[in-house]
Amino acid sequence: MRMVDLIEKKRDGRELTTEEIQFVVKGFTTGDIPDYQMSAFAMAIYFKGMTEQERADLTMAMVDSGDVIDLSAIEGVKVDKHSTGGVGDTTTLVLAPLVAAVGVPVAKMSGRGLGHTGGTIDKLESIAGFDVEIDKQTFINLVNKNKVAVVGQTGNLTPADKKLYALRDVTATVNSIPLIASSIMSKKIAAGADAIVLDVKTGAGAFMKSLDDAKELAQAMVNIGNNVGRNTMAVISDMSQPLGYAIGNALEVKEAIDTLKGEGPKDLEELCLTLGSYMVLLAEKASSLQEARQKLEEVIQNGQALETFKIFLSSQGGDGSVVDDPTKLPQANYVIEVEAKQDGYVSEIVADSIGTAAMWLGAGRATKESEIDLAVGLVLRKKIGEYVKAGEPLVTIHSNTEDVAKVKEKIYKSITLTSEKVDAPPLVYDTIPN
Ligand code: URA
Ligand code: CA
Repeated sequence: MRMVDLIEKKRDGRELTTEEIQFVVKGFTTGDIPDYQMSAFAMAIYFKGMTEQERADLTMAMVDSGDVIDLSAIEGVKVDKHSTGGVGDTTTLVLAPLVAAVGVPVAKMSGRGLGHTGGTIDKLESIAGFDVEIDKQTFINLVNKNKVAVVGQTGNLTPADKKLYALRDVTATVNSIPLIASSIMSKKIAAGADAIVLDVKTGAGAFMKSLDDAKELAQAMVNIGNNVGRNTMAVISDMSQPLGYAIGNALEVKEAIDTLKGEGPKDLEELCLTLGSYMVLLAEKASSLQEARQKLEEVIQNGQALETFKIFLSSQGGDGSVVDDPTKLPQANYVIEVEAKQDGYVSEIVADSIGTAAMWLGAGRATKESEIDLAVGLVLRKKIGEYVKAGEPLVTIHSNTEDVAKVKEKIYKSITLTSEKVDAPPLVYDTIPN
């Protein structure tokens, strides 16, 4: 086989065989296929697309390019959740203990990540003593015992994807549905998922800005999952404004605790119940979505979800008492209100722009080397559709520096007030399958 022939075949819109796709992925991973040929190949995919079979083959070839986590020693169906990313997305912190409390095994491998706030691992590190570097056996034992454990990324997972993603980034080939879908799915499968629930975000704060693109990506990932033997479902949810109120690491841990108590932001709770119901269903812990949702509501009401969170934290060395006293989380030195300059209805909170304001405070990493300040961030006081009077707080800034003039200016630019009444946007646009 010669790479040049395979580039030509894809360029002309013909379907590649399983063996041909394996040849490309293997050769690229070892370095036998140079970047310039792989770039041309990615561009051919960008223009000609991929068939269902090709997408499944590409996904599995990338899975096979590195380590695959073996979770077979954990009882039950291991369902993983993936979010395409947004601003102030606290769902993992809520969902992990929530579904574990109804018996779904959650063996979560999580990253730190770049962006407006840290990843799940960073957020958990705002709990004193919490250890994400547990060994594999401890991880498996904890999931069997408590139904939930979270570990930092280890091993050499999907090196082909890592290399290809970096190449796509500099060759204008990131925005290809088959490439995005296989990239995301390969990582979930390599991390050991038997079944997958996807939260595909749409709106200003999301990777997929338009609803049509989000639907297409969601459908593509669901098809890949089902074609490679992983039951997969997707929820398409709103990320035009941030989810919940808190944007920041310790602030989001507190918000997750509130939500597990049934006292959190309604949108965050609703999305967690929606995604959680699918997880419970795929894990075969309920026979219908309705029954799954009932079970989740029950463990919020009777305190078991919160108790599971506490046990999860203390089992990994963390101070579980933060659940009863969230003031034990890192606190910022300055709490500063940003007040509305006029009366009006909030019509827009541009998620990525307000996320940037949080990052400027130190809540997220601008580069891999940046350090996160776990205490800082923003808390929205109003969401789209709510009315605010001049002088009332719009946003609360938690900062470790007193000079927040630039951050304030960014916040004012991110939020629009109008005199006409505005409806809140829908939270969930669609589900696949519906
Ligand atoms: N996120 C990924 O993991 N892969 C992509 O290709 C795009 C976004
Ligand atoms: Ca939030």
